[in-house]
Amino acid sequence: IGKKWLATLALTVGVGLLVSACGSGGQQASGGGSAASGGDSKVYVVGTDAAYPPFEKMEADKITGFDIDVIQAVADAGGFKIEVKNTGWDPLFDGIDKGNVDLGISAVTITDERKQKYDFSEPYFDANQLILLPEDTTVTKLADLKGKKIGVQSATTGEQVVKKAFGDTYEGIKGFDDTPSAVDDFFVGRVDAVVADNAVLQDYAKKVKDKKFKLIKDDSFEVEHYGIMVKKGNADLLNKINQGLKTIKENGKLKEINEKYFGQ
Ligand code: ARG
Repeated sequence: IGKKWLATLALTVGVGLLVSACGSGGQQASGGGSAASGGDSKVYVVGTDAAYPPFEKMEADKITGFDIDVIQAVADAGGFKIEVKNTGWDPLFDGIDKGNVDLGISAVTITDERKQKYDFSEPYFDANQLILLPEDTTVTKLADLKGKKIGVQSATTGEQVVKKAFGDTYEGIKGFDDTPSAVDDFFVGRVDAVVADNAVLQDYAKKVKDKKFKLIKDDSFEVEHYGIMVKKGNADLLNKINQGLKTIKENGKLKEINEKYFGQ
């Protein structure tokens, strides 16, 4: 009886320690049960630009959003631990280059250009660009904006489509470090339009009911696929990510996260 009781006690204390360890590891660290399932004990640093709701945003001092739920579920399913950092956009790519960020999830579109420097997971979300315009605009396509000021987040696919339409040196393009700054400039009239990802602009549409504007799509805007990004050649981590992603695609977890943020 003594042995059995001791074993129960040890188990209880053990579980208690594990639970408190999971619950107190800094705001975004997480256990994920990888030790128990035989995963590695390394904590991978996830970088994101947490100014892109509903994908990632700062909520008080916590990073939340669709991507954060996705990467947590992927890590849990793939048997590895993560810690999420709000790096910003350009520093996210820099951080991966330098090795102080292990992986990036930030509504990052998989592009041929980026694939030269980074490896991407299988896609986890589809998107396209949209143009944010005043409600009474006569603009019906991107080409109509020729000569107008267009706000974009620098080094994004939004910037790319504008440059593709008007040339790399187009003077009307105004680049911002983050997308909310571009949208703010639009609402005070400093830019005539903003080009950014559909779900992000639609999220504004839901939130700022007092302001009047319209969203249009140009025929040149292609479907984009978001991927999770690692340093080129980091096959070990990429495999873990893809394995986790496969699991959450199959077991309905990814669908559940989709419904949480976007409804049916
Ligand atoms: N999907 C676009 C791109 O890859 C924009 C992503 C911006 N993401 C962010 N968190 N600010 O270029």
